[in-house]
Amino acid sequence: MPDVTLTTLQGLKQRGEKIAMLTGYDATFAQTACQAGVEVLLVGDSLGMVLQGHDSTLPTSVADMAYHTACVKRGNRGALVVTDLPFMAYATLEQALESSAALMRAGAHMVKLEGGAWLGETVTRLAENGIPACVHLGLTPQSVNLFGGYKVQGRDEGRARQLRADAEALERAGAAMLLLECVPSPLAEQITQAAGVPVIGIGAGAATDGQVLVMHDLLGLSLSGRTPKFVKNFMAGQESIQAAFAAYVRAVKQGEFPAAEHGFSA
Ligand code: KIV
Ligand code: NA
Repeated sequence: MPDVTLTTLQGLKQRGEKIAMLTGYDATFAQTACQAGVEVLLVGDSLGMVLQGHDSTLPTSVADMAYHTACVKRGNRGALVVTDLPFMAYATLEQALESSAALMRAGAHMVKLEGGAWLGETVTRLAENGIPACVHLGLTPQSVNLFGGYKVQGRDEGRARQLRADAEALERAGAAMLLLECVPSPLAEQITQAAGVPVIGIGAGAATDGQVLVMHDLLGLSLSGRTPKFVKNFMAGQESIQAAFAAYVRAVKQGEFPAAEHGFSA
């Protein structure tokens, strides 16, 4: 059992204390993040891009995710470990259960999947089997080909209404946590206020219950040379990676990150 549990995160939400989440893919960085105060480690399928060098997350497999989860588990010092179900690993209920079992056996405490209200049954079945699920809404990178690029989601009222309904339906289905990526800050605020479960944001403004960043982005490393608007380089002015991680945690806790400039308007 990690020191940080779902109960811890619920308590943080209720007290209005921000949750600091960061991606982690190996033992040393996981330990360093824990020592800097990171509460939730995300073994993200972003590893397909930042570690493996692919131009999207689509090639990442369950075996890749399980391998990196096992690495993170060995360096983890009390954080809650959340692992992404990769592309097409939860297209059917059976696949979702089988893929999630592999990730949980590797050391995840929660799985994350991308989608909307149609995942309700999957989320319920996972919960019935003891597997907490976080649903990633908004810009879901596994659907980049459907979106025609990495675009802000929910700027028009139709899509905003859909995202609010998705969040509500998924919570009712038993989702343990929600994650909003690249949605207008006012919409993220509405969804967070309506939600009884913790809502984590990336490119979703400062009103969510917590923040997440890809570790490489936080450290100012970029393979593509492009830096998304929601990223801040926390390595600037720091002498160690642990200090950069700690600066991120502090900025999240104090509500200094994200600033308005890191968010998207409606
Ligand atoms: O894969 C990942 O790192 C993610 C975060 C960007 C939320 O899903
Ligand atoms: Na991901």
